[in-house]
Amino acid sequence: MDYPGNLIVVAAPSGAGKSSLVKALLEIDARIQPSVSHTTRPPRGQEKHGREYFFVPDADFDAMVATDGFVEWAHVHGRRYGTSKKAIEDRIAQGADVILEIDFQGAMQIKKTFANAVLVFILPPSWEELRSRLERRGEDAPEVIELRLKNAAVEMAQAENFDFVIINELFDRAVFDLKTIVHAQRLKYLAQVRARADTFKSLHIL
Ligand SMILES: Nc1ncnc2c1ncn2[C@@H]1O[C@H](COP(=O)(O)OP(=O)(O)O)[C@@H](O)[C@H]1O
Ligand SMILES: [Mg+2]
Repeated sequence: MDYPGNLIVVAAPSGAGKSSLVKALLEIDARIQPSVSHTTRPPRGQEKHGREYFFVPDADFDAMVATDGFVEWAHVHGRRYGTSKKAIEDRIAQGADVILEIDFQGAMQIKKTFANAVLVFILPPSWEELRSRLERRGEDAPEVIELRLKNAAVEMAQAENFDFVIINELFDRAVFDLKTIVHAQRLKYLAQVRARADTFKSLHIL
């Protein structure tokens, strides 16, 4: 199925910078929306239903699993999180570009459901830099960092399954690279026919 909006899927080993890059892209491009996941955990603080997450009761989550409503879902710390097919489909059908941060396996699942999804893999410039970013971020205990680095080796070996690779060395350059990928999708023939139908008609192409 061809939708007017693009689905951009960003994966990376933890610490490579995907959350920072996606956040920066959302700030400079108002046509891109983050994908909103479903979760069975309760909202915290100022979190709003439909903004950070769709907060749903266990029974609703069960029903969505049973009806194959999720592209992928997972247990995290005893709660469940899932990416709803319909939530993505509704937005890209309306012409929005949706960006999604996900792990490698999730990215492969998305591609099965949304064949036109654009898969972007973010790499750190070196092992040393990946380690020091995880340390500087200050979110993880030393043993968690070791585990993340071990997982990173496995995950990075999967980069070949992605359409694009960004090496996040200089942050601004990496944001530009990500923006360029999105921009290139908007310049594809069918996208241009949709966006500029009048121009095509006046040029007697349509
Ligand atoms: N290009 C970069 N240069 C230096 N530090 C970066 C760069 N990109 C991200 N960081 C920092 O590295 C850490 C990990 O980034 P984060 O976006 O949380 O990664 P991820 O979401 O992939 O786990 C953060 O502290 C972030 O500020
Ligand atoms: Mg992150």
